[in-house]
Amino acid sequence: MSAPAFRSIALLGATGNLGSKILAALNNTGYSVTAIQRAESKNVADGAAKSIKVDLTSKSGLIEAFKGQDVVVSATPNPVLATEKIWMDAAVSAGVKHIVLSEYSTNMDNEKSKALPIIYDKLQTRKYAEELESSGKIGWSSVNNGPFFVPFIWTAGWMGANVQKETALFHDGGDKIVCTSTLERIGETVAKILAPEHAADTKNKPIYTYSAAVSERKITDIISKITGIDFPVTNASVEDITKETFAAVARGDNSRNMGFYIPFCWGDGYGGDFRGQAWNEKLGLKEMSDAEIEDLFRGFLSDNATK
Ligand SMILES: NC(=O)c1ccc[n+]([C@@H]2O[C@H](COP(=O)([O-])OP(=O)(O)OC[C@H]3O[C@@H](n4cnc5c(N)ncnc54)[C@H](OP(=O)(O)O)[C@@H]3O)[C@@H](O)[C@H]2O)c1
Repeated sequence: MSAPAFRSIALLGATGNLGSKILAALNNTGYSVTAIQRAESKNVADGAAKSIKVDLTSKSGLIEAFKGQDVVVSATPNPVLATEKIWMDAAVSAGVKHIVLSEYSTNMDNEKSKALPIIYDKLQTRKYAEELESSGKIGWSSVNNGPFFVPFIWTAGWMGANVQKETALFHDGGDKIVCTSTLERIGETVAKILAPEHAADTKNKPIYTYSAAVSERKITDIISKITGIDFPVTNASVEDITKETFAAVARGDNSRNMGFYIPFCWGDGYGGDFRGQAWNEKLGLKEMSDAEIEDLFRGFLSDNATK
């Protein structure tokens, strides 16, 4: 393996669902990873070379924590510009060369999707990174991956089958395609884009990745095969859900904003099937075969996992 262009990486959110997988992938690739944790955190960053606990609202504390780091990767939950700006500015002041934003979303570069309030904050943060880059202060990149390929999204009634209730919910008939990624695939992609052979090409842009392009019907059929459950299906209209969710926002009710994930993934023209934009081939990332998808779900279902 050739030497990484970047050697030392600071990782925010290293103990999270996704962050822990990014940490593992960076470790496997040979980087030295420093976990940057909240001052009050009791979580353990397994596998990190070092862990620094710091007040994430303190720019000076973060500058100290980032000194000597080539890259800062963020996998923080619910990123908004007000909080992300603090660590981004600290990275610039500490002389960090490159930052990776906490996006990990679906199609943030699609015009229809950009109107969905759920990605407003991530778009603001991206815009700020672009400003830092255009004034020559730092390079950035981000990874977008579609809905996580995890049990809480694919076996709990959010998309397709609800194993516990033995029912299924399809959107617009269940045959539309969305790109979805395991947390391991996302971690692998973060490691790949920082590697010397890809770092220049992937700089200052969002990088799209996926494990598989699937429909609700396909995953429900796989779950049916594994469990023997014959799921009765309810069909929902993506257009109705989109209209109702926008109407709720117009009334000042943001409690239904999760509804925006439905057009984001399944809406016509929202770009949830982003295979044409994905870097899989350029980064040498293979799509999962049907047998591998079935094995993944056998694992989910044998754990009886719902997370
Ligand atoms: N595409 C999808 O389907 C999907 C689904 C879920 C999430 N996401 C995205 O993935 C990214 C990471 O989300 P996640 O769900 O993996 O995060 P998470 O598991 O909720 O948390 C990640 C870690 O962030 C740290 N942290 C920093 N600030 C925090 C705060 N204010 N509150 C709680 N923890 C905080 C904590 O680590 P310490 O305790 O060590 O400080 C925590 O373990 C986000 O951009 C999120 O929007 C995408």
